[in-house]
Amino acid sequence: MFLLGSHRLDGNAEILAREAAQQLAPGTTQRWLRLHDLPLPRFEDRRHLGGHSFQPPVGDEQLLLEATVEATDLVIVSPLYWYAVSADTKLYLDYWSAWLHLPEVGFRSRMAGGTLWGVTVTSHRDDDSKVDPLIGTLRNTAEYMGMNWGGALIGHGNRPGDIRADTDALRAAKSYFARQVAAV
Ligand SMILES: Cc1cc2nc3c(=O)[nH]c(=O)nc-3n(C[C@H](O)[C@H](O)[C@H](O)COP(=O)(O)O)c2cc1C
Repeated sequence: MFLLGSHRLDGNAEILAREAAQQLAPGTTQRWLRLHDLPLPRFEDRRHLGGHSFQPPVGDEQLLLEATVEATDLVIVSPLYWYAVSADTKLYLDYWSAWLHLPEVGFRSRMAGGTLWGVTVTSHRDDDSKVDPLIGTLRNTAEYMGMNWGGALIGHGNRPGDIRADTDALRAAKSYFARQVAAV
């Protein structure tokens, strides 16, 4: 599953992710979801209120939950926003804390063994260390959930379409999903 976290359409990160997806084996099932189209309400931390503190998901939340647990591979496609994932992406990840508290879902056991990937675009052209907080968020999330970490595919650009000039990133995209992944 490719989860698009940009707050604009046809963004650089999506272009880079689609470049990588072109290299998937024919017949590989792909599902693309845009978080902007599936707005989640503000996350309420109800973890310690006792009882059945989280309601079973409905609507867009239910769709996202089902798509998430059904995916063997979850590709977070988020531009770098303030050195981190985008707000829509972060809100989606916050909901994992609710889904972990729904015993009927078995969220942790269903996510374990899957692979988390991260595709991002930054406007810092010469310093990929600026992306470290985003990578840390995703890598640590994979570790916490018992998932494999596929690693990050990093592109460079600011205005829409800039990524098309990042030939190194476009080349890296061609082998991104061919990487060996392992539990972190
Ligand atoms: C709210 C916001 C915060 C941003 N913060 C950063 C940042 O911290 N570092 C950076 O390199 N670029 C930052 N950018 C620039 C985007 O990462 C860049 O424009 C990227 O190409 C956007 O990807 P997209 O086209 O997929 O949306 C920010 C952009 C926005 C809108």
